Amino acid sequence: MAAEAESRVDYLDAETESSLYESIRDKFWYPVAYSDELDDSPQAVTLFGERLVVVRLDGEPAVFDDQCLHKGTALSLGVVDDGCLRCPYHGWKYSPDGSIVRIPAREELSGLVKAKLRRYPTVETSGLVYTCLGDEPRYPPPSIPEFEDPAYEFLHLDIYEWDCSLARRLENYFDFSHFAWVHDGILGDSSQPRIDDYEVERVEGEIRFEAGPFPEFTDNVKNAPESSYGGEAVYGAMKRYRVFIPNAMRLNSAAGETEDYVLWVCLAPVGPERTRCFTYQGRNYGFDNHYEFMAFAQLVTDQDRPIVESQRPTEVPAVLPAEMFVKGADLALLEYRRWLLEIANE
Ligand SMILES: [Fe+2]
Repeated sequence: MAAEAESRVDYLDAETESSLYESIRDKFWYPVAYSDELDDSPQAVTLFGERLVVVRLDGEPAVFDDQCLHKGTALSLGVVDDGCLRCPYHGWKYSPDGSIVRIPAREELSGLVKAKLRRYPTVETSGLVYTCLGDEPRYPPPSIPEFEDPAYEFLHLDIYEWDCSLARRLENYFDFSHFAWVHDGILGDSSQPRIDDYEVERVEGEIRFEAGPFPEFTDNVKNAPESSYGGEAVYGAMKRYRVFIPNAMRLNSAAGETEDYVLWVCLAPVGPERTRCFTYQGRNYGFDNHYEFMAFAQLVTDQDRPIVESQRPTEVPAVLPAEMFVKGADLALLEYRRWLLEIANE
């Protein structure tokens, strides 16, 4: 028994168990805004409990602490003035690098104060603005090639927040065996719940796998390659996944011989038990059904919400044996969980 216990390399001590949430805080990129929704109106964002302000200055996204260095006012209540962020309280102005460039009550002090507003690394790619709370993110932010491909059209849902941990939310997307139950008649069939074997591999910061075929139904806009959907045919959808450690996922799901559906999801923790979700849907077919297409995504999301928010513990256990994994079927979930625990255990 002792040898068996020792072979469980993922079995962590108590100190490590408490650090799972903290361990992913500084090492990765997290989304803070949709590109097309960020302009020169400052936005307040909470990430890992930190109050941040996100704004576009001279066209470039910037992320700062949302707290004026003078009297602690939220800069997200301020405005952009001549390419700088201006505090609403006393008019202090911050340049894009966080330097104080104007103190209106004593102009002669402007430019002399050395203190700088903390600015965080910021990048924009594949329709999202990202920041990192640390200085050295481990991997580049996820990039979605289809996003730049003119054959595809991408639309996003509104940003939404669920009362769950990041890992619970992300796992829901590649937990195939729930499709037959939570999405019976749409993404699965409860009379065909078996999950066939598949393989997973790690490549750079990703877990890649292909699974299926899953019985999907063509009486909805996503699964009907022709715009005249309404049939009740069943077809076998193959799903190609890339899970970007620790917080994003791209899913390509076949909707026909050449029809490709892309689900592009990226998550950011508000706190350990609340998660902010960014969701794009892309496709190379059915461009004349925008409303139905987005309504479909909303339907599936609404079906998942009570399920995921009910999961306990809200954060995933920091030890593998604390939950059961179905051999073969849960392989991707197991690999994701293992990777998170490796990060926590570094
Ligand atoms: Fe689901």
